[in-house]
Amino acid sequence: MRQLSKHVSLKKFNTFGIDTVAENFIEISDNQDIKEAMGWAAEKGYTPIILGGGSNVLFTKDSYPLIVVNHLLGIKKIKENEDYVWVESGAGEIWHDLVLFCLKEGLGGIENLSLIPGTVGAAPMQNIGAYGVEIKEVFESLQAVDLSTFEVKSFNNKECQFGYRESIFKKELKGKFFITSLVLKLSKIRKVNISYGAIQKVLKDKGILEPTINQVSDAVVHIRQSKLPNPDEIGNAGSFFKNPVISKSRFEELRQIHSEIPSFPQEDGQVKVPAGWLIEQCGWKGYCEGSIGVHKKQALVLVNYGGGKGAEIEALASKIKDSVYDKFQINITAEVNIL
Ligand code: FAD
Ligand code: EPU
Repeated sequence: MRQLSKHVSLKKFNTFGIDTVAENFIEISDNQDIKEAMGWAAEKGYTPIILGGGSNVLFTKDSYPLIVVNHLLGIKKIKENEDYVWVESGAGEIWHDLVLFCLKEGLGGIENLSLIPGTVGAAPMQNIGAYGVEIKEVFESLQAVDLSTFEVKSFNNKECQFGYRESIFKKELKGKFFITSLVLKLSKIRKVNISYGAIQKVLKDKGILEPTINQVSDAVVHIRQSKLPNPDEIGNAGSFFKNPVISKSRFEELRQIHSEIPSFPQEDGQVKVPAGWLIEQCGWKGYCEGSIGVHKKQALVLVNYGGGKGAEIEALASKIKDSVYDKFQINITAEVNIL
């Protein structure tokens, strides 16, 4: 196979910067490549791992039999009416390039998701979200190759079963489909979502009263750069854990003891509690253990300062999870895909 390389270091292919090895490494550029690569993997008995930008994975093993990297490209408008434009993107495009394309075309809907690392194809995997918006709000459909039959299947919004950092592809269809393209339905009408307090503050400081989608994007980029560590400087995969959602009654019990606990009420009456706050209360913020640790500005972000092993980060995550449970009786679960 033309694109097959042997014994490739994965250090540059994951934002944690974990130095592990792919025994076989294939880069995919079209659907035919997928068919060939997956057919070959089945023959050899290898379970493939599909990789986009590697910004939401933790490699915990010394080597992997087969890593398949997605480079399916192409962004285009495919349909429009008076109010909306439907944009199709290859799954291997960089997510932020798709955001920039939409901004340039004056299309609203994903400006709050500016600068999220990774590829377009991985975005529906966990229904990426930030600053008051999730991709499910503009998601029309995706195409994916069934890895057992090689048939191409289309999934609409409902079929993806999106939830908070969840989709069917993280649950019953985990590892079963290669997502090849997405269609998003974006708005021609000027309508922005500035419900998130931090965005309002940045806009207010700049004296912007009626922001454009570009100004909202700039505000989000500014907030992200001030809060989250840049993976080019410190290895990390963004939030390591999901924010737990607990019942209102449990939340009220906690508030009796911790009056300052931050909270985000959910539509169904439950309450989302920031895991970063819970972890900080357990004393982990800024913690260092050899080359790994907990970021000093954001306790939800585990970091690799260089040379850390995935298994060490997994062990630290497990200690953090246990201590949060001991102190608050709340179970926090990983957002990052542990491989
Ligand atoms: P990868 O890490 O390569 O893969 C993630 C998972 O998807 C893996 O299980 C992989 O096997 C699977 N996968 C990837 N591509 C495909 C495909 N084509 N078909 C089938 N399966 C596939 N996330 C948010 O939601 N909001 C944020 O605000 C946010 N901020 C972040 C900030 C930083 C600094 C970092 C490092 C990460 C952040 N993330 C955030 C997490 C991450 O950027 C997203 O989850 C992103 O969508 C991952 O894309 P990726 O291409 O890097 O996926
Ligand atoms: N907090 C602390 N200490 C900390 C970190 C946070 O007390 O060390 C508290 C603060 O009260 C703060 C609150 O937690 O107000 C929320 O923090 P922040 O606004 O930084 O957001 P987050 O809950 O930590 C979530 C997402 C991010 C997303 C931002 C903005 C999850 C798991 N994480 O982070 O997504 O960018 O909101 O919308 O939902 C990611 O998924 O990788 C990611 C970075």
